[in-house]
Amino acid sequence: MTHAPSPRLDGKVALVTGGASGIGAASCRAMAAAGAKVAIGDLQDTVTASLANEIGTAALAVHLDVTSESDWHQAVAAAEAKFGKVDTVLNCAGISVPATIDEATLDHWSHVMRVNADGVFLGCKHGVDALRRAGGGTIVNIASSLAIRAGSKYPAYCASKAAVLALTRSVALRCAEEKWNIRCNAICPGVVETPILDRYLSASPTRDAGIAAFGSRHPMGRIGQPEEIAAVAVFLASDESSFITGAEIPVDGGYCA
Ligand SMILES: NC(=O)c1ccc[n+]([C@@H]2O[C@H](COP(=O)([O-])OP(=O)(O)OC[C@H]3O[C@@H](n4cnc5c(N)ncnc54)[C@H](O)[C@@H]3O)[C@@H](O)[C@H]2O)c1
Repeated sequence: MTHAPSPRLDGKVALVTGGASGIGAASCRAMAAAGAKVAIGDLQDTVTASLANEIGTAALAVHLDVTSESDWHQAVAAAEAKFGKVDTVLNCAGISVPATIDEATLDHWSHVMRVNADGVFLGCKHGVDALRRAGGGTIVNIASSLAIRAGSKYPAYCASKAAVLALTRSVALRCAEEKWNIRCNAICPGVVETPILDRYLSASPTRDAGIAAFGSRHPMGRIGQPEEIAAVAVFLASDESSFITGAEIPVDGGYCA
């Protein structure tokens, strides 16, 4: 799937976490194609450097462990130094590690919450600071359909993503009350074909069979592609969504309908 260049994000500067892979990488490409400058943050420095090189002068690779407050300071400062401001933060970094409630340890819970919930909290906190300096902007948080419909295999993941939804609403209300010109929204993807699925697909007889099995759980009969989530991230980052804040948008082929 490709994106035709459009001016929807002309003049905007986005900082994308988890930008090395899957939905984050597709969003970096889509945002750049829509006219934005993009700071690509991730732990995978070689991959972000290569993606920045592919996108060209509109992109900057930044090292960003979303659980590290000092990394947030440095990543935002690097993006502001290069592009003059940050007015869009896409909190995409996340991990999915299965462990049922009877198997899960407190360490497992803490690890998942640290990346998926604390990481988005820091993204919102440092995002709001940066966006206020820019005079406004948008925060987009990637949650999950599993924040709405739980799955028995992933209690920590479900809880971490539900935390993202509640955080999103609270941040949206605070920014609206203070008239900071900052919107904050969440996307709830269904199953999407990215490397996060690899551990689940490798347990299937074949990769195609695993993808078909995931697809059959969605009313549309298939799983999603990262570009289909990226398109909604571009919309929420753009002025076309100017009256949308505190929303959680399922992009899931009907899974949560
Ligand atoms: N793929 C799906 O089926 C699906 C469904 C619903 C929600 N999501 C969510 O979408 C987001 C993106 O996932 P994806 O499917 O593209 O997976 P992915 O594994 O392809 O990408 C996740 C990225 O996050 C990065 N990351 C992990 N920990 C990090 C940290 N501490 N700091 C910075 N970066 C870190 C990884 O290096 C990787 O590049 C995640 O939040 C995930 O939970 C995915």
